[in-house]
Amino acid sequence: RALIVDFGSQVTQLIARRLRELGVYCEIHPFNRVSEAFLAEFAPKAVILSGGPASVKAETSPRAPEAIFRLGVPILGICYGEQTICAQLGGEVESADHREFGRAEVEVVADSPLFQGVWERGRRYPVWMSHGDRVNALPEGFEPIAKSPGAPFAAIHNPARNIYAVQFHPEVAHTPDGAKLLRNFALNIAGLKGDWTMAAFRDEAIREIRKQVGAGRVICGLSGGVDSSVAAVLIHEAVGEQLTCVFVDTGLMRAGEGEEVVRLFRERYNIPLIHVQAEELFLGKLKGVEDPEKKRKIIGATFIDVFEAEAKKVGDAEFLAQGTLYPDVIESVSFDGGPSVTIKSHHNVGGLPERMNLKLVEPLRELFKDEVRALGRELGLPAHFVGRHPFPGPGLAIRIPGEVTKEKADILRKADAIYLDEIRKAGLYDEIWQAFAVLLPVRTVGVMGDERTYDYVLALRAVTSTDGMTADYYPFTHDFLGRISTRLINEVRGVNRVVYDVTSKPPGTIEWE
Ligand code: XMP
Repeated sequence: RALIVDFGSQVTQLIARRLRELGVYCEIHPFNRVSEAFLAEFAPKAVILSGGPASVKAETSPRAPEAIFRLGVPILGICYGEQTICAQLGGEVESADHREFGRAEVEVVADSPLFQGVWERGRRYPVWMSHGDRVNALPEGFEPIAKSPGAPFAAIHNPARNIYAVQFHPEVAHTPDGAKLLRNFALNIAGLKGDWTMAAFRDEAIREIRKQVGAGRVICGLSGGVDSSVAAVLIHEAVGEQLTCVFVDTGLMRAGEGEEVVRLFRERYNIPLIHVQAEELFLGKLKGVEDPEKKRKIIGATFIDVFEAEAKKVGDAEFLAQGTLYPDVIESVSFDGGPSVTIKSHHNVGGLPERMNLKLVEPLRELFKDEVRALGRELGLPAHFVGRHPFPGPGLAIRIPGEVTKEKADILRKADAIYLDEIRKAGLYDEIWQAFAVLLPVRTVGVMGDERTYDYVLALRAVTSTDGMTADYYPFTHDFLGRISTRLINEVRGVNRVVYDVTSKPPGTIEWE
């Protein structure tokens, strides 16, 4: 496996993605957590030093742990990684007046195993740069293999020591050949096998869960979504009846969602499941509340109360399982006090582990969303289930701007089901990251038959995205939108007008609240 040492670049996660796409297992660790003992235990076959926002010239800027250079394994430095390699091994880095940000071209000036079969000497290739400092003199034993107008040492190597470094970012899509260069490094230079599969991950994860949990009891809050479901099925495979799941029906779920989860877990997997009907409680607490943040807070707090009461009935639970994913685990690198770990409170159990004195079991914390889906399929979850669009913890409440009532939730649930049904029928579901309807707190005048109507406006949203961080609206055909609008107005009482949201993120967010 490979080790990625993180210096805090915005795109470090993409290095991991590219390697895993090659079937190479790798982990990202902040530079100041990589001790000699850690390296001995991790035993990487290759090390990649990431980019980062610091300047090598600054006194307190981070350095790669010296022990890495004594491992004798291939090393690849990217951007800041290149600069620190040069600074640490006796080269020179300077703050350049000619900074390079964005698209640039490099010219290959020497043959290198890094370019083998991809780039030819004497030719130019597009890359994506993002640097202020640049390497000015190389350490002994290194030679330049590519140059750019802003960086005479845009790529360098020391084949004898198996150290490679590039000033550009091969991990981003804007460097079109980047993935191939990483492939050369990982498979050819480092000799990694590329045989990491979901089946292997699953076996390893099961071993780890057994080791962590021992004979302890585990409780898991199911949200109806993919992540918590996959985590629960995996943990059940590992420790069987030691796991109890709690599913809280908030009354803010999509149509049929609760029933499907309950059936799947009880009947198909035989996993002990407590099903709490809490619609009245949640809607009662939301009565009269219009502020989006207040709504979120009330739902989060109510969820914790309900979950805690149920979890106590399970007795002696020692562990809380969560479907936390890799992108949720933001290990930001700070240069003074060490790395800080922030986990988004996405699973609505924030504060619960401390309050109930529970230890966390998070078997998915190394996986990306599409990997979780693959693991779900590996565990036998139905394809349509693992392919589900993301659904936010506060549910339909944040898709009903203003006060949430049962009447509105029912209208929205019905409309949402029809919208998704049409998207599925058109074969578009998997192309879309997320699609949903929003019930606006606005009534407008319409005419149906000879009658005047005065009903709600429904806004439709559909976006493409790879990670939910940025998104673009989905370009449905007008024909499709027209068809949906007709069906929605004909079939959903209370709605007489449909509009389509064409805002990207940024500046919009995906959800309306
Ligand atoms: P936004 O609206 O911030 O959403 O562009 C980005 C992604 O996150 C989801 N989302 C949530 N998921 N709890 C969740 O589990 C939440 O409170 C929450 N808020 C937004 C949203 O659906 C989208 O996929």
